[in-house]
Amino acid sequence: MANTFTKPRGTIDMIGAQAEKYQKLVQTLNEKAHLYGVSPIITPMFEENKLFHRGVGETTDIVTKETFNLESKGGHEYTLRPEFTAGIMRAVIENKLYASPHMPLKLYYSGSIFRYERPQTGRYREPHQWGIEFLDEHLDEVSTVEVLLLMVSCLKAIGIENPILKINTLGSLTSRIAYKSALVEYFVPFIDSMCADCKARLETNPLRILDCKVEEDKKIASNAPIIRDYLTDEDKQEFEGILNKLQELGIEYEIDDHLVRGLDYYTGIVFEVYEKSHLNLGALGGGGKYDGLSKALGGPNLEGIGFSFGLDRLLLSLNDEDKEEPIDVMLYVQDDVSLMLKLAEELRKKNISTLIPHVGKSLKSALKMADGKRIKRFVFKKDDFYVVKDMEKNEQKECRYENILNNLSLGGK
Ligand code: HAM
Repeated sequence: MANTFTKPRGTIDMIGAQAEKYQKLVQTLNEKAHLYGVSPIITPMFEENKLFHRGVGETTDIVTKETFNLESKGGHEYTLRPEFTAGIMRAVIENKLYASPHMPLKLYYSGSIFRYERPQTGRYREPHQWGIEFLDEHLDEVSTVEVLLLMVSCLKAIGIENPILKINTLGSLTSRIAYKSALVEYFVPFIDSMCADCKARLETNPLRILDCKVEEDKKIASNAPIIRDYLTDEDKQEFEGILNKLQELGIEYEIDDHLVRGLDYYTGIVFEVYEKSHLNLGALGGGGKYDGLSKALGGPNLEGIGFSFGLDRLLLSLNDEDKEEPIDVMLYVQDDVSLMLKLAEELRKKNISTLIPHVGKSLKSALKMADGKRIKRFVFKKDDFYVVKDMEKNEQKECRYENILNNLSLGGK
């Protein structure tokens, strides 16, 4: 076949049962967010390129290597969003949502993001995220704890009972300045043997060296100083306060001194979640506190905290079956098409899902289709009667047109 097309590398088609699972996952997460008083927000899939440079950070892989930049249009340089947080902050500033009497702002979102990464299992170029952001002039310990509670309870709601929650803190600016100079001092003697990225990071952001994936560099980084030894008393108190609250609430966590996250805007607590039988997928989600993003984007002083889940990774880590939802009724039509269309509409009005196969199909092939599509009741006309076949029990009853609904026996519908 000449000139057929394939999907771009690193993207996925979700079809039938898989697409249904994705939609249900988003719905469950949306419902959880609502339970915590969080409201939805939808922002554009592309933004000005500068927003991500300033927001996500000039020294991050996401911005320096992985963005999909659109051709310049009318003098604007646009980029497909590599994450949500910067775009949401832009929307909050532009729409002056920070002036709302209902602070803190609590927002949730979902959709595609775009990162030009090397594709592998659980790593795509158009991954899907679901996340939340809490924003206010000052966010207290309660907001942080609530964000973590929501994260864990979302995972439970979708069947991930025992997530591994890794936590670290990047401290305030004062703590980070002290820590960065300790890191530089530690890495300087090794830097010649380290990768080009680490060499650059030593200059631009030494914290990012801790996130290097090169095995030899990881070994060197494993003995590097840890931030906890450089926290100011105030930062230490704040971090311990959060950890104590989590303990009181029975939320299990591990402290990971090398967790620094791949985005530049974090300040304070950072965290990631994993599933122990799917560690190969990497983090199922991650987030943290970011106090300078609003200012960096020209907004007022606003503190933020949030996280995003990788929806594709969540789906891969759920070991449930790939089966499409059953459909209640299939109406097999031979002659009286109008009557069947009328009945189908009546059933749908009663919330009974109804499928009409291609008119003219043989009864045998329609029944075969009903089997494959997990149809509960198969209805067809036989002489002057209608036959309602229970596909699960393999039993059938005959009735008149006006009694079809009563004979479906779909429990409650
Ligand atoms: P992130 O860690 O870059 O954080 O992404 C969050 C999650 O998205 C990851 O843990 C992973 O599950 C998923 N993800 C990211 N990239 C890919 C990929 N290429 N393929 C598959 N899944 C992927 C953020 O994006 C921050 N905006 C999170 C945040 C919100 N921080 C504060 N608020």
